[in-house]
Amino acid sequence: MKKIPVIIDVDTGIDDAIALLLAMSAEELDIKGITTVAGNQTIEKTTRNTLDVVEYFGRSDIPVARGYSKPLVREQIIAAYAHGESGLGTAVLPKAKKQAEALDAVSFIRKVLEESEEKITLVPTGPLTNIAILLLSYPHLKEKIEKIVLMGGGAYTGNSNAVAEFNILADPEAANVVFASGVNIVMCGLDVTLKAIITPDDIEKLLALNNKAGDFAAEAFKFYLEMYRKALNVSGCAVHDAVTIVYLTHPELIKTKPGTATVDIDGKYTYAGTVVDFTPWRDRSKDNALVGVDIDRDAFAQLVIDACKKY
Ligand code: RIB
Ligand code: CA
Repeated sequence: MKKIPVIIDVDTGIDDAIALLLAMSAEELDIKGITTVAGNQTIEKTTRNTLDVVEYFGRSDIPVARGYSKPLVREQIIAAYAHGESGLGTAVLPKAKKQAEALDAVSFIRKVLEESEEKITLVPTGPLTNIAILLLSYPHLKEKIEKIVLMGGGAYTGNSNAVAEFNILADPEAANVVFASGVNIVMCGLDVTLKAIITPDDIEKLLALNNKAGDFAAEAFKFYLEMYRKALNVSGCAVHDAVTIVYLTHPELIKTKPGTATVDIDGKYTYAGTVVDFTPWRDRSKDNALVGVDIDRDAFAQLVIDACKKY
């Protein structure tokens, strides 16, 4: 089977870490590199967490390159309420020996795209700062990008306020550059990711694996579960970022709809909202995104457990 060449851009983060566990154990993917961006936590912490996850789970063969520490225009926001002070909740990993690459994230992605004979799929699961700067700095490299499978936005809801999802709100101007770039987008937004729920029963199954991935995931989910319980009074947590990986490895589990997606960077009350036009009478030649709208939750949860079983 031909592997899909990918670069994953993360703000690790609890669900970013789970997405990495899925990706690093997926035979369908050829991970050319992992790049980091500020988002859930500062760039220092998201890079630290990413290096630690990659090394702890035996994939130090994958280069990690550090990216931008601040959004393009707006003031920085981070999501310590959702991912904790470290960015991984209460989970603690040994400090990786391997350092980040000498190249910064954008230079690293540029190098991979320039040297690759095949197109690369970009998989951002945090704010889109790195991706926007890549597209603005090297527009000719768009032709080397197969598509951008991103976690971000929401056609019908926000999570950071009434309209905005965190990854978009953290850098709306960057998201606007990416959505307007003309590169094909698969938008794994809240419409699908809020259905990608891990339940306490699933966590029991992770613990029953009695291995380091199951133990790590269960510990990391603990903080997430508590946040969802306090905020939404629900028993379960949405593993947003992992949906991007499942889209690539098991697309049959995710329902998508084509639409024309734009990011509002001017609105007084709708700033950072992703407006998706699904109307039948829209100009379909302007469609830029396949938007995730549903997922087979049981199969998704089993994939997370099966991925952890492999470590
Ligand atoms: O809104 C969810 C997104 O924000 C996820 O990527 C999570 O990691 C946070 O970055
Ligand atoms: Ca993330």
